[in-house]
Amino acid sequence: MKDDNKLSKNDEQYVIRGGRSLEGEVVIAGAKNAALGILAAAVMTDDKVTIENVPYVSDTRTLLKAIENIGATVEYKDRHTVVICGKGIREGQPVDDEYIRRIRASYYLIGALLGKHRYANVALPGGCDIGSRPIDLHIKGFEKLGAKTEIVPGGSIIAEAEELHGAHIYLDTVSVGATINIMMAASLSPGKTTIENAAKEPHIVDVANFLNTMGANIKGAGTDVIRVRGVEKLHGAEYSIIPDQIEAGTFMAMTVATRGNVLIKNVIPKHLEAISSKLVEMGAHVIEYDDSVRVMADGALRSTQIKTLPYPGFPTDMQAQMATILALSEGTSIVTESIFENRFRYVAELARMGAQIRVEGNTAIITGVKKYGGAMLRASDLRAGAALVIAALSAEGISTIEDIQYIKRGYEDFDEKIRGLGGKMLIANGEKGVQRAKLELASSTD
Ligand code: UD1
Repeated sequence: MKDDNKLSKNDEQYVIRGGRSLEGEVVIAGAKNAALGILAAAVMTDDKVTIENVPYVSDTRTLLKAIENIGATVEYKDRHTVVICGKGIREGQPVDDEYIRRIRASYYLIGALLGKHRYANVALPGGCDIGSRPIDLHIKGFEKLGAKTEIVPGGSIIAEAEELHGAHIYLDTVSVGATINIMMAASLSPGKTTIENAAKEPHIVDVANFLNTMGANIKGAGTDVIRVRGVEKLHGAEYSIIPDQIEAGTFMAMTVATRGNVLIKNVIPKHLEAISSKLVEMGAHVIEYDDSVRVMADGALRSTQIKTLPYPGFPTDMQAQMATILALSEGTSIVTESIFENRFRYVAELARMGAQIRVEGNTAIITGVKKYGGAMLRASDLRAGAALVIAALSAEGISTIEDIQYIKRGYEDFDEKIRGLGGKMLIANGEKGVQRAKLELASSTD
């Protein structure tokens, strides 16, 4: 795989001129969070695995680089199709490089390598700073399967076992990461494993389907109870990743914020129900087709209440984007974040655009305003960054957004897709670049 210095560049900014309704069609990429589980699971066999619809975002590139660094081969057949072969992985080699600590999903390599080699040594997860994100449930699961774990000074985790075996595991908290990680290790642990209080997100089902395509025996993914019967080994497979629910939701929110009319293609409408129903409550129109949704909005939007919950509840990864449009809706809205702490850091940025939001603990009380004004903004994490793009597209005037490397972790060709819908958005480098972009946007007539 070619090195991609885009992974490290963080002096780029988005420059956005708001006020234009988005119109047209946009095609949604493969689900980032499913891809991260699937790419890690792909090294659990020595055979070749072909994965299609892999989103070309920095998180997947980082994980693939880490896999390659420990001896797997990774070959891009085209921009979205990757062929991985885990045969050459050097058993015992630590997974660590300057990028892997930045992504939280590095933890999937613990479950994958523990299952395959009975040994994993992986740099501890980073990811977006959205509050304390422990991995105690992952560790508890691995230990129940027979592994010993140790946190090594310097910030890595070692998990190892002479033998793994099936176990009955109850997750105290519904956790996407722990569910996937335990499912992976259990696939190669002889005997029966039951995971109770499992997460039910669409990407749990996608990773389970992928593992089953490789020869695993997993039943019940998508329900509270997942049953895994361990198999001796996994084999090669071809698999295509589901569409990204959160990228789709972000474009839905963006369309509503700009009072646009957009056909959002390559989606599974059922995965979007929690988002669609809130947008409809607010006064937008959502029409579902087989694999696309049309979103339309005009006129005033209404306030509502949102509480984030595990799937099929409202996704925490859409909280910031929805709050951004609620802050432009008539009346008072309440948004409660029940999954992560520290997920309201975008509020201070929106306030600089004129939003009226008061945060009390895990609740945001939002008083709708008529318009945002352009401002100089900074993305604090991936979804907060996407929310600021939505705000800037609906604002009067020009905004700049710094730290867009967070946004690039999860949105493929974000600026290009938005320009395709008529949005006025450029990427600029350095101060001079920003000035040039501002001039270009200010002088464009339409
Ligand atoms: C995944 C997603 C992330 C999404 C989140 C919730 C990936 C790569 N990331 O993150 O985008 O926002 O699900 O839908 O798929 N917890 C513990 N102990 C643990 C694990 C989790 O207490 O061992 C807690 C967390 O602090 C949090 C809650 O459980 O409060 C849910 O976290 P979890 O579902 O594990 O989130 P991630 O897998 O990190």
